[in-house]
Amino acid sequence: MIMNITNTKLIHRTRIQIPKFVDELPIPEVLQPTKRLKDGAYYEVKMLQVKQKLHKYFPETTVWGYNGTYPGPTIETLKDRTVMVKWINCLPKKHLLPVDRTLHGAVDTPEVRTVVHLHGARVSPESDGHPEAWFTKGYKETGPFFATEVYKYTNHQQAATLWYHDHAMGITRLNVYAGLAGFYIIRDHLEQRLNLPSGEYEIPLLIQDRSFNKDGSLFYPAEPPQPVPGVFPSVVPIFLGNTILVNGKVWPYLNVEPRKYRFRILNGSNSRTYTLRLSNGQKFYQIGTDGGLLESPVELDALTIMPAERADVIIDFSGSKGEYIILTNDDTDENTSNVMQFRVVLTLKGKDTSTIPEILYPFERLNENMATKVRNLTLDTVPDRYGRPSFQLDGKMWRDPVTEMPELGSIEIWNLLNLIAFPHPIHVHLVQFQILDRRPFDVQHYRSTGEIIYTGDPIPPDANELGWKDTVRVTPGQVTRIIAKFDGYTGDYVWHCHILEHEDHDMMRPFRVIKSYFS
Ligand code: C2O
Ligand code: CU
Ligand code: CU
Repeated sequence: MIMNITNTKLIHRTRIQIPKFVDELPIPEVLQPTKRLKDGAYYEVKMLQVKQKLHKYFPETTVWGYNGTYPGPTIETLKDRTVMVKWINCLPKKHLLPVDRTLHGAVDTPEVRTVVHLHGARVSPESDGHPEAWFTKGYKETGPFFATEVYKYTNHQQAATLWYHDHAMGITRLNVYAGLAGFYIIRDHLEQRLNLPSGEYEIPLLIQDRSFNKDGSLFYPAEPPQPVPGVFPSVVPIFLGNTILVNGKVWPYLNVEPRKYRFRILNGSNSRTYTLRLSNGQKFYQIGTDGGLLESPVELDALTIMPAERADVIIDFSGSKGEYIILTNDDTDENTSNVMQFRVVLTLKGKDTSTIPEILYPFERLNENMATKVRNLTLDTVPDRYGRPSFQLDGKMWRDPVTEMPELGSIEIWNLLNLIAFPHPIHVHLVQFQILDRRPFDVQHYRSTGEIIYTGDPIPPDANELGWKDTVRVTPGQVTRIIAKFDGYTGDYVWHCHILEHEDHDMMRPFRVIKSYFS
């Protein structure tokens, strides 16, 4: 069972009365290429500051959007087709939200720095969107890492729901909160043969929480201007908004026909974890994880999804004609326990011929015996240079030298030891991995001796985790074991907690894939 982190620190406590389910769910546009390439497509995407209606009764909200929309347009491609994107920073000089200059993003730039990461993609280091490969408006300035103007995605991976979002050093939480996120969908022929719900019956859902000021502007807490050494806690450990948005609308509704729908659910929130259910108690089917389709569908009545995780699900509304069904979140708060509403209309436009096949996609488990390296990596609380608690990986700060250097083509097992009292979604760039198991261990003993003593048996991954993952729930007091093959490219990448407030505050580490000694 995962701990409910929604009660640990509620930052914005304002009681609000905002009518729910008054706006229709927007569906992000599919981006049209600027040019066709021989083997793919070339796009240009401008990051812009715009005003957008996020709720019927709100004044317009100033947001940042890729191509001027929040969420950004959806990029769609076939597997193995090349996608080139010129990401263009056209944002104003001043940040939309309060920037805390004491975080390790103390790298300060006169203009807003941005860099785009394609989350879940197997991509070369030059196009990965390394946090230090940031650039400012018009490429006037670039970070310490090589920034290239046009990113290249080769899409040598199976059909999957990926997403692109900002990853700039020290201000990722603010850039994403301002609106810089969008879907990126890879399709392939294997998937197309499955006859899953498609077209207008396949809908991406980006779930995010936000808070607002009375004038409709985005609220994000300003961090302490003067850090107080030794005072705990003086920094925002997480951010929880008091409204829930789906595809950029506060508590929207969607008219659905009494038939099967496929929803690609992405938790794009800064910190919030959701446990989603349907208010009529109906079950649904998860067919895919972060990295693609599962081997077979998993029936669920609740889905826990941490920041950056994706769940591909099928909901069958055929038995619910005329019903209003709420997609709920397990929470005691009357506001944040609601996500969106499905209004099942009475009639079908055409017969539902889609299926939920029993076998979806081939899946081969990586063999533990093939691993050439096992790394013990901790998640722990350590005071930063101001004496404030910061969460760290492997007992190291972001700027400490790189210590994880897998060899190209090798398989490694990473033991993620969570010494902190709540779960963290750990994400590794470049690879899709598999979860081996989670096993309780003696945290106190580990702290004093550095030795792992297990206090229980290994717990196998949940049925809906038995697929390709790039983000994993690392549970407290347990060793979460993941296995990955570091394939494709050598060079510099990162791994981090995807709670953006943690990522920006030293819960991020570099890793480098190196040439194999023997090859
Ligand atoms: Cu979705 Cu390194 O991030
Ligand atoms: Cu990523
Ligand atoms: Cu974390």
